[in-house]
Amino acid sequence: MSFPIISAQQAAEYVKDGYNVGFSGFTASGTPKVVPPAIAELAEREHAAGRPFKISMFTGASTNDFVDGALARAKAVNFRTPYQSCKDMRAALNCHEAHYADAHLSELAQKMRYGFFGKLNVAILEVADYNDNGEVVLGTGLGIAPTIVAMADIVILEHNTTINPKLRGFHDVYMPLDPPYRREIPIYKPSDRIGEVVLKIDPKKIVGVVESTNPGHVAPFSPADEVTMRIGANVCDFLAHELRAGRIPKEFLPMQSGVGNVANAVLAGLGENDEIPPFQMYTEVVQDSVLELMKHGKCRFASTCSLSISDEALHDFYENIDFFRDKIVLRPGEISNNPEIVRRLGLITMNTALEADIFGNVNSTHVLGTKMMNGIGGSGDFTRNAYLSIFSCPSVTKGGSISNIVPMASHIDHSEHSVDVIITEQGVADLRGLDPIQRAEKIIDNCANPTYRPLLREYLSMGKGGQTPHTLHAALAFHEEFMNSGNMAATDFSKYAK
Ligand code: COA
Repeated sequence: MSFPIISAQQAAEYVKDGYNVGFSGFTASGTPKVVPPAIAELAEREHAAGRPFKISMFTGASTNDFVDGALARAKAVNFRTPYQSCKDMRAALNCHEAHYADAHLSELAQKMRYGFFGKLNVAILEVADYNDNGEVVLGTGLGIAPTIVAMADIVILEHNTTINPKLRGFHDVYMPLDPPYRREIPIYKPSDRIGEVVLKIDPKKIVGVVESTNPGHVAPFSPADEVTMRIGANVCDFLAHELRAGRIPKEFLPMQSGVGNVANAVLAGLGENDEIPPFQMYTEVVQDSVLELMKHGKCRFASTCSLSISDEALHDFYENIDFFRDKIVLRPGEISNNPEIVRRLGLITMNTALEADIFGNVNSTHVLGTKMMNGIGGSGDFTRNAYLSIFSCPSVTKGGSISNIVPMASHIDHSEHSVDVIITEQGVADLRGLDPIQRAEKIIDNCANPTYRPLLREYLSMGKGGQTPHTLHAALAFHEEFMNSGNMAATDFSKYAK
């Protein structure tokens, strides 16, 4: 059975108002690029004709501007989950133009299969290759692809001819059975393969193939600045110290690293630290720095959900694809982020906080407690189940007018129970085994910016007892002050004294 070649506009016509639509990919990698803009144009035409047109979107993680950007700008989104990092989508969900449910990335696929979001009407997948039996080679990011093709009534393939066909063999496609039939996921080391290199789709579901020559675009990372480099150096020193102390085995443990410039700098720093032995990664995104570490023999293997690498790094990856073949496996997000495996392998996890409070709670998602930034992503999947969980962030942001160490986090994604270590450019707060007051002293002394230390100490001393000595009416004084004067450093705790 050969599938009809259709235009992006014809593909878009399969999508109707009110539909639940699933997209392949994870970050911009493996995410469709030509059908979603056609859906956005369809939505705009429908709106102009006075008809409603909005869809619910299910993805592996963030996408690209062709998906989140185009659909948000067209006001074509009713519901969005689990994660986004697009300014237009962020604006839409912060004003409730689109309803957004933030979710742990490892959980979305199974929750969809459990029926928590209703049926899935359409799945749209970017593929590197396909055959008439419905076997497809996915792109450089998998996300929830296995689940959406299993659930959807119909499937549209975007065959992207810019993807190197030699990508075949990098994927390990596996979907666990659902309770009560779920068994252990048999991954005992990052390189274990448990699935298939192709995703099998019921050919009867595939309504058409859209040819795409859109390579997408991922900008290179900005060069590490002084603060970022100091954070990276502090993380490396801490890990080397733990290794010397025997709390990390001498063989080292697999690492997970979040996205962004800090994460990239930390990994680069690990490469330069002679005390850290060559290591493996079990993570959700591989960034440029990991490929460099592989070339230098410092990273031996990476299990990931996507290659979220710059155009330049992708070009280099394709040029040297045979070198990377036995060093990388691409998995669905449900497996790359799976709590069972994270706990079993004993991951060292490194994620980024927007703010942390003096008692060790972390806010990764809500700016000033209200505005959604991106979402929790995989940080909860990894942090909660880590061997050793680390959060890093600069001590201040916006030129020092915001302290990222606050009396009480304005939103909590990772509670004190899951956060082992906080690291800023100022230093390291190892919170393991400390009670709340000891934690607060360590975080203030080692991580807070010197400008904010006196204020944070004043807040701690205001506490009238209890295990966690908050002064509730002053707990968000930093945030309130920022909203009033634009500078948290102007906080005056004397007005809260009673
Ligand atoms: N209050 C208000 N704004 C803050 C802030 C705070 N405490 N801390 C940072 N910001 C602002 C920054 O100023 C910056 O604003 P800008 O875009 O206007 O420049 C923005 O938030 C992003 O901060 P940045 O320092 O550039 O950090 P980042 O790119 O490393 O992203 C997170 C940090 C927390 C937003 C990002 O890591 C994230 O989305 N995490 C959740 C998901 C996750 O951890 N996934 C991990 C598995 S991959």
